[in-house]
Amino acid sequence: MPLLVRAGRLAGHAEPVDLRVGDDGRIASIVATSDAPSDDTGGAEVLDAAGRMIAPPYVEPHVHLDSVLTAGEPRWNESGTLWEGIERWTERKPLLTHDDVVGRVMQVLRWQVANGVLFVRSHVDVTDPDLTALRALVEVRERVRDVMTLQLVAFPQEGIVSFDGGEKLLEEAVHLGVDVIGAIPHYEDTREDGVRSVEIAVDLASRHGLMVDAHCDEIDDEQSRFVEVLATLANRSGLRERVTASHTTAMGSYNAAYSYKLSRIIARSGINLVCNPMVNLHLQGRFDAYPKRRGLTQVKELLGAGVNVAFGHDDVMDPWFPLGTANPCQVALVGSLATQLTSPAEVRECYRAVTDRAARVLGLQGGYGIEVGRPASFVVLDARDPFDVVRRQVRPSHVVANGHLVARGPEHASTLTWPGEDEMSVDFRRDADR
Ligand code: FE2
Repeated sequence: MPLLVRAGRLAGHAEPVDLRVGDDGRIASIVATSDAPSDDTGGAEVLDAAGRMIAPPYVEPHVHLDSVLTAGEPRWNESGTLWEGIERWTERKPLLTHDDVVGRVMQVLRWQVANGVLFVRSHVDVTDPDLTALRALVEVRERVRDVMTLQLVAFPQEGIVSFDGGEKLLEEAVHLGVDVIGAIPHYEDTREDGVRSVEIAVDLASRHGLMVDAHCDEIDDEQSRFVEVLATLANRSGLRERVTASHTTAMGSYNAAYSYKLSRIIARSGINLVCNPMVNLHLQGRFDAYPKRRGLTQVKELLGAGVNVAFGHDDVMDPWFPLGTANPCQVALVGSLATQLTSPAEVRECYRAVTDRAARVLGLQGGYGIEVGRPASFVVLDARDPFDVVRRQVRPSHVVANGHLVARGPEHASTLTWPGEDEMSVDFRRDADR
């Protein structure tokens, strides 16, 4: 049955609107509620938004679905470093089975949908001669496609050049149907190997019409300088905005002169950057005494230079990060704090980093956003605006994917019964409304 969303508030519309979904799962019309006869549902299922916000869904631009929910298996990452995370994952990898991967991934995809995420880019480790995880993820991508768009990145966790057979495995991943080619130049054994790995990734993507998303300079080493290589090759190859540099945490340690030079190269290249604030706050700075670095890329400065920057969750309960519930609203809040983007306008930018800016990373233009003719995929939020969503961590009351209601959210109120006090209520929608 087609869906009619009644009396929702939409950015750019002063009055509440009725949004009607067509039989094709696309938005058929958006009209002011005051202009729409209330008794004419046209046989549609009615979702009463009751003045709540209707917004495009969240987009997860960077997660590692293959490793989700493996924290502590077979051992915990006690040091909290990226390096021990890779060691623990290398121990867990031989235990992967098809069913193990599918089961864990489906669990986290359900969390994402409940949180309002309908578009996901997942890196998948391809430094595995059997490519067990990738084969499972290709199957999952198909299984969830009516609800979620899942992009898969061939991610060479242990290197392309420094890992025996790394380049061949990347090519095999292309034949299995990945959407994006990855790289990890700072993990390769030498600077030269790192440069070569980026060349291989860009060349492979160019030849097969794919995108590139490289883990780049995820280290607190001010000498790690592979973003300049990736951005330059993105520009020269013509791939430009189809290329993304992820993490880039070494930028948090670069001197001002080099930062200035690099930001010009990045802006000129058209590439996207993805910062993963929760995980890199956790992983970076582990080798520092005080003062201890934040270990994040230069988000505020890059936005100022006109670069598209998005925020990713990165890991969910795995060897690199024991926490997380796959909730981009939480990522936006932590990203806001960690990058000191805390004025109302800046918090709105952090919300954009998990919505339309992340959509640009995935290249979703035309398939994302609330406009007539576009897929009817959106969330309903009991909040005033994006600033309010992030500040109060408002979860979606409804999630609609391609015209179908796929999730309903919880209430935001609790009744308190404290000793010596009358029963009282806390309602975050009401009490924090200022
Ligand atoms: Fe990552």
